[in-house]
Amino acid sequence: MKDYDVLVIGGGPIGLAAAAELANSNQQVLLIEQFDFINQKGSSAGSSRQFRVQYAQKYMSELALESIPFWEKLQKTTEDVLIDQVGSLWFGDPALSSQEGGIEAAMEVMEELHIPYQPLQGKEIESLFPFTNIPEDYSGFFQKDGGIIDFKATQKALLAICQSAVNVDLLAQTPVTNIQSLENGAIVVTANRQEYYTSKLVICPGAYVNDILKHFGLSINIDIWEMSSAYYRKTEDIKLPTWFVFQKPQDTSLFYGFPEVDWAHPGYIRVAPDIPDRIIQDPSQRSPYPSKKSLGFNETWVKDHMVGLDPSSEFTATCLITLSNNSKELLLDFLPDSVNNSKNIILYTGGWAAKFVPLLGKILSDLVIKGTTPYNISNFKIDYKNC
Ligand code: BEZ
Repeated sequence: MKDYDVLVIGGGPIGLAAAAELANSNQQVLLIEQFDFINQKGSSAGSSRQFRVQYAQKYMSELALESIPFWEKLQKTTEDVLIDQVGSLWFGDPALSSQEGGIEAAMEVMEELHIPYQPLQGKEIESLFPFTNIPEDYSGFFQKDGGIIDFKATQKALLAICQSAVNVDLLAQTPVTNIQSLENGAIVVTANRQEYYTSKLVICPGAYVNDILKHFGLSINIDIWEMSSAYYRKTEDIKLPTWFVFQKPQDTSLFYGFPEVDWAHPGYIRVAPDIPDRIIQDPSQRSPYPSKKSLGFNETWVKDHMVGLDPSSEFTATCLITLSNNSKELLLDFLPDSVNNSKNIILYTGGWAAKFVPLLGKILSDLVIKGTTPYNISNFKIDYKNC
C-alpha cells in the first residue's frame, strides 16, 4: 500500500487547488473525490462566479487582492480566459448590508486600501448600464478589477495540473468510509475498501463536511443555502459588468448578475436572486428543483428593472452554498487539539470562496506542510462540536 505525504479529501475547486500547490512543493499527494471531478453536486455547481476586490471588511479585500497573482499564475496554464475583467457594479440602498457586505462599508475599505472605484448615483447607473426604474436615492459604485470567473475552466485548469503531475494520484467516485488519526502520527483513510496512509490531511468537503468530521467524533454547525438561478434571453445588444443590487426587504430583493459569456448559453444573460430557496443542514435534504418563488422574484426584477432581456427564466439551475451560521466569511482551520495530529489536519469548508480558489490552494498547502501561512486567516476559525 502506497504512503502519501498529503492526502486531500474533496476534489472540488479548492481541493484541486490544494493538490496542485502541494504537487508544486514536491509532495506525494492523493486526492480523493466521492463523485466525479467537476460535478454539479455541491458549492461549485454552475459555470460562472463573480470576482471582486471590494468588501466591507478590510481583511477580505486584502485577501481578494492577494489572490490576483495566483489567478495570473493559473491563467498561464490554460488558453481559456479564467476571469473576464468586465468590472463589478454594486448599487442599491447605500446603508444596507447583506452577506456580501454593503456599499458604504465597501467604499470605506476601498478608500483605505487605495482601490480605485467610480461612485455612482441612481440616474447615472441607468445612463451607464442597462437598468431602469432605479430609485433616485439608490447609489453605488463601479470597480474595474471585478469580473466573471469561468468556473468550469478554472476547475479544468486545476484538474489538468493535477493530472499531469507525476506526484499526484487522483481517485474519483471514491467516498471516504473511515479515517483514523493514530497516536503515532499516522493517518489511515479508508475508501473503496482500501486503506491509504499519510501523515498530513487536507479536508475540503464543502457541504459534505459533517460526513467527514464524524470520523473524528466532530461536527460543525453550517447553513447550506439551496440557491436558484436562471438565464434570460437578450433582446437588445446590452453590455453588463458583474453586478449586485442591495435592497430591502432583503429576503426578497437581493439580486446579482453577469454579462453574456461565450462559455454558457451565448445570447442569454444570467441573473440570480441572492436569497436561499431553503436553508438546510445536510446535502441529503436538498431539493432537485429550483424554487418557483425565488425565480418569480427574479423574473419580476428582470421585468421591472433590466433593459434588453426577455423576463422568462430559462436554463434554470440550483447550487448548494455552504456558509457559516455565525457570519464568518470563510471557514478554515486546523482540527481541534482533541484530535491526534490536529496540527497536520487542515479543514476548509465554506464561504463565498470562488474568487479565492487558487490562493486558498496555496494557503492550505502552506498550512499542512509548514503549519503556518503569511496570509491572514485569523477570522476564519471553526467552532467544532463533539458528537
Ligand atoms: C460574492 O461576490 O461574494 C457574491 C456574489 C453574488 C452572490 C453571492 C456572493
